[in-house]
Amino acid sequence: MNVLDIIDKKRNNNELSKEELDFIFNGYLKGEVKDYQMSSMLMAICINGMTDQEVLDLTDIFINSGEVLDLSSVEGVKVDKHSTGGVGDKTTLVIAPIVASLGIKVPKMSGRGLGLTGGTIDKLESIPGFRVEATKEEFVKQLNDIGMIVCSQSDKLVPLDKVIYSLRDVTATVDSIPLIAVSIMSKKIASGADKILIDIKCGDGALIKDERSAKELKDLMIRIGNYYNKEVRCLISDMNTPLGVCVGNALEVVEAVELLDGKVRNNLYDLCVDIASNMVSMAKDISIIDAREEVIDAINSKKALNKFNEFVVYQGGNIDEMRISDNKLEVKTNKNGIITAIDALIVSKVSSGLGSGRKDKEDKIDYGVGVFLNKQVGDTVKDGDILCTLYYNEVKDYFNIADAFTIEEV
Ligand code: URA
Repeated sequence: MNVLDIIDKKRNNNELSKEELDFIFNGYLKGEVKDYQMSSMLMAICINGMTDQEVLDLTDIFINSGEVLDLSSVEGVKVDKHSTGGVGDKTTLVIAPIVASLGIKVPKMSGRGLGLTGGTIDKLESIPGFRVEATKEEFVKQLNDIGMIVCSQSDKLVPLDKVIYSLRDVTATVDSIPLIAVSIMSKKIASGADKILIDIKCGDGALIKDERSAKELKDLMIRIGNYYNKEVRCLISDMNTPLGVCVGNALEVVEAVELLDGKVRNNLYDLCVDIASNMVSMAKDISIIDAREEVIDAINSKKALNKFNEFVVYQGGNIDEMRISDNKLEVKTNKNGIITAIDALIVSKVSSGLGSGRKDKEDKIDYGVGVFLNKQVGDTVKDGDILCTLYYNEVKDYFNIADAFTIEEV
């Protein structure tokens, strides 16, 4: 077999065999296929797409590039969740304790953020002492002890995704539906859960910008799940507006805790209840309406908040020592009107510019900085009202964050 012939075949939009996919992808993992050859292959896939058979074959190749977690020694149904990434997305911090507090096991491996949206692991690391690494044995023990774990993705699982994702990130080949589906589903299947909920973010602040692509990704991931005998449900949720009112690592942890304490009722609350209800409905094989009742009760009774606190302490965190910067800048409007939109992309760029995100893998995160949205879509504002508050440590060249707010004057 020859790398150039395989690239040429895909460039001419012909279906590749599993052997050919294996030859080029595993060859890349072993260092035998060069970056420029793999880049060319990825671009050919981006442009020509993949057949269902190619997607299933490539998912299998990804899964078998590393270990597969065996969770058979964990009792009960194991349900995992994944989000394709959005601005202010702290849903895992809320949902995992809700679902675990209802007796369902939640094994969750998460990533760090690169680019504009922060990763769950970065958010958890804003809690002093919080351990994000776990061995296989610790992973299983924690699930049996408290019913949930959120730790960083093990290097031993799907190593192909790690190298391919890094290359996609710098070759404009991230937003390919088959490549996204293979990347997400291989990690979820290798992580050992029985059932999987995927939250596909759609909008300007997300990887997937339009409904049609989101629907295509959803159908493809469900087909992959069926092939592996895993129940998969996908929700498509809006990512034009930031989720909740906090963007930035420690700020987002605070918002998650407040939600679990019953103090938050916004788009974040609605989405968390939707996702958690679907997970509970799958795990207990009950209707969404019954699952929703259980989820809301877990919040109202503080069962989920207690589970969150137990989880943080189990992983070594001390939430009382978490700090948000004392330096605040209030951004005011000079308009009178109604807020009709808040641009998630602008908010994430400002937050990232303050230090809450990374441009390069090596960049250090400033956990205590970010953006708090004092006003939300639908709110009426008048001249002099505070739109948002920036928490910062270093004075930087801020974008004009007021531009994120569309205000229709009345
Ligand atoms: N999230 C992933 O894990 N992989 C992708 O390719 C895109 C989003």
